[in-house]
Amino acid sequence: MRDLPIGFLDSGFGGLTVVRQSLKQLPNESIIYIGDSARAPYGPRPLVEVKKYIKQLTHFLMNQGIKMLVIACNTGTAAALNELKDEIPIPVVGVIHAGSRSAIKMTENQRIGVICTQGTVESHLYQTVIQNKEKNVTVYEHAVPEFVKIVEEQRIQEPETMETIKQDLFPLKEHNIDTLVLGCTHYPLMRNEIQEVMGPDVTLIDSGAETISEVSALLDYFNLSRTSDDNDKNPATQTYFTTGNGEGFEKFTQILFNQPDLKVQEVEIVGDELVDNSNT
Ligand code: DGL
Repeated sequence: MRDLPIGFLDSGFGGLTVVRQSLKQLPNESIIYIGDSARAPYGPRPLVEVKKYIKQLTHFLMNQGIKMLVIACNTGTAAALNELKDEIPIPVVGVIHAGSRSAIKMTENQRIGVICTQGTVESHLYQTVIQNKEKNVTVYEHAVPEFVKIVEEQRIQEPETMETIKQDLFPLKEHNIDTLVLGCTHYPLMRNEIQEVMGPDVTLIDSGAETISEVSALLDYFNLSRTSDDNDKNPATQTYFTTGNGEGFEKFTQILFNQPDLKVQEVEIVGDELVDNSNT
């Protein structure tokens, strides 16, 4: 069991920011990732539909064999975390609770902003989790759907992007927040641009990065952590799947992780099943 990979899933590229933290904080662990780019973005979809997709991706990862599941997607966490915890026999971690805890720790003026997808706003899960722990904090949840498109369409460096970020973050700047949760795993890819717009006095919280600290603690708790010795004998592996265009996903991931040999396999959506045709 200990040698099995950790499974990560997201609607597309976003969850790779969580995997990046896993590779940094847990280099002895193998990972399997699936990005559902064919059906991204999840944010504007009804949460029941997102839940259905998350369950399909989970089923696919469970069939590959994993020891822990990370829903590396805030919208997916809002839609499916509670049910999946009851339904699958391995530990399941979402990205909302760790980010919320970290925001409570960092805020000094008790005013926290959360930027996320429409689905995550509608669930109000950030507000609920934060205020259940600290009722004196005011939480401003704000949807910025264009940011996911900017990342998926790889438009971060384009000149108009900075203007879009400024306009979309304007309502939050009015609220005098001192802490801003990047409540969508795509957003850390635009972290520098967001920080520039919010200014140096606002602390940005990367929910995904915080989540990996939780994963690390849980692996220890359940006696599932691999050691450096394990890694010397049997090196950790990385396996990537996408329901979208494999070549585009591969290029993006290779650049992000600076691993020119990294491979991404395409998975086909057939009815309610995801089918890996790479070995047939
Ligand atoms: N990266 C995802 C999240 O954290 C989903 C973004 C989307 O597909 O809209 O919410």
